Amino acid sequence: MTMTMSLETKLVISSIALLATVSAVIATATTLLFNDFLIDRLDSQVSSAARRSASGALPPGSAPPEAREVSFLLLPGQSEGTFGARIRQGAVRRAAVLTDVGSVREVPSPPSLVHVTNAPVTVELGPLGDYRMVSTRAPDGDLLVTGLPVTGVRSTLTRLVVVEAVVTLAAVALTAVACTLLVRRAVRPLGRLAATATRVSELPLATGDAVRLTRVPEVDTDPRTEVGQVGGALNRMLGHVETAFAVRHESETRLRQFIADASHELRTPLASIVGYAEVSGRGGERHGPQTAHALGRIRSEAGRMTTLVEDLLLLARLDAGRPLERLELDLSPLVVNAVSDANAAAHRHRWLISLPDQPALVSGDADRLHQVVANLLANARTHTPPGTTVTTTVLLAPGQVSVRVADDGPGIPGHVLPHVFGRFARGDGSRSRLAGGSGLGLAIVSAVVAAHEGRVEVTSAPGNTVFTLVLPAAHDHDPGDRVLLASSHQVPPPERDPADDQQHGRRQRERRGSHRAG
Ligand SMILES: Nc1ncnc2c1ncn2[C@@H]1O[C@H](COP(=O)(O)OP(=O)(O)OP(=O)(O)O)[C@@H](O)[C@H]1O
Ligand SMILES: [Mg+2]
Repeated sequence: MTMTMSLETKLVISSIALLATVSAVIATATTLLFNDFLIDRLDSQVSSAARRSASGALPPGSAPPEAREVSFLLLPGQSEGTFGARIRQGAVRRAAVLTDVGSVREVPSPPSLVHVTNAPVTVELGPLGDYRMVSTRAPDGDLLVTGLPVTGVRSTLTRLVVVEAVVTLAAVALTAVACTLLVRRAVRPLGRLAATATRVSELPLATGDAVRLTRVPEVDTDPRTEVGQVGGALNRMLGHVETAFAVRHESETRLRQFIADASHELRTPLASIVGYAEVSGRGGERHGPQTAHALGRIRSEAGRMTTLVEDLLLLARLDAGRPLERLELDLSPLVVNAVSDANAAAHRHRWLISLPDQPALVSGDADRLHQVVANLLANARTHTPPGTTVTTTVLLAPGQVSVRVADDGPGIPGHVLPHVFGRFARGDGSRSRLAGGSGLGLAIVSAVVAAHEGRVEVTSAPGNTVFTLVLPAAHDHDPGDRVLLASSHQVPPPERDPADDQQHGRRQRERRGSHRAG
């Protein structure tokens, strides 16, 4: 398992670990050396005490009875706590310790005492603790063992270790605080670099628009520091990206402008072709059947081309972000009209409509929204066989108005579905080919809906294809009526007043030209 730690934590922990290790090594070495030094000193004291012991004895009778055999302990210069023992012929005669009142106290003698030589050794004296001892030979031939307690050395060492521990801990704590502050200061510029990169990563770069990218602040681009080098490189990279975006945006704008200009320029000659074909076609009986057929083809192809040019122009304008007209309008009558037109164009389909009993108010461009619904209905008409049922539903939801166009036709081919809203996306089925569409219908739907801050979704399976337009509502509806649906009813054959009919006839022609089926 690898542990993920921030750079800051890693640096602080490593510094502290390093300091603690170095301190421990120094403290151990100091303690060992000091121990040797103290023991050496004690040994020389023991040696002088032993020399004193061997230097002579008190006159017989001047020593108290308990100091018999070890009266050398009472010689001047012997310090309190000094141990003394006399060994004669390998047996300990008596062992005693000099007490503070200048008398001696007999102590039990361990068997190892007889092995003490003239080189100092440590001997454990039971409850009295460890002693450093040496032996010297008295003038009478006895061995005199003299010793001094090691307790003083031990307590000095303990004090030293405690002081070392306290000092090391304080140093480690201080280092931790100082290190945290220093490291935090050192990595702060990295945080700023990361923040810049994050801000750039959140920009909507996919739109292809020219963008101004955030840069790393000047202070973090000093090439003398490592962070500065990264900051400088990041800024140069952002500069390149910005230039690339600007160039792309520029070329896209030029292309869009070219398409818009070309489409616009094509409209006039196309209108003339349609007009002349119309005029020439009028005296039908004067032409032979071949000429009449050719004129009809000219009319229909010119109509198709007009539609294509209009679609291209509209897309180019929407791409350029040209604002649409925004007026408050009720989608229900617009949908009713569009469905009536579709019904008129394809009697052999079943057209159902379902509307809410409140106005479905949105703010938008009535002509463009009509075109959107008409395109969906045209698809449901041209890409499905006669007898297909097409149900158009207007739904109100909080803050939203949606229009759903569902048909039970064969469905959108699987390879077309993922990019059905793309430009020139077409199914290659015989029906699509017969329909003669250009594949721009749904691209226009998507672009117009996006220009209204709405969205369009599609689901399709054989027998159930559903397109759903979702547009922001102009007002919030009554929250009690989440879905206001009247029951579906069949659309009656179109019966409208002539003025209305004329208007819709024009719209239909606008979109379909002379291809209007019916
Ligand atoms: N309701 C539908 N049922 C089956 N297929 C559909 C349906 N709607 C769209 N499609 C498929 O999606 C493709 C793209 O549709 P779109 O409206 O963009 O182009 P089109 O109808 O071919 O041409 P245009 O609309 O420009 O005349 C169609 O060619 C068709 O294959
Ligand atoms: Mg279409």
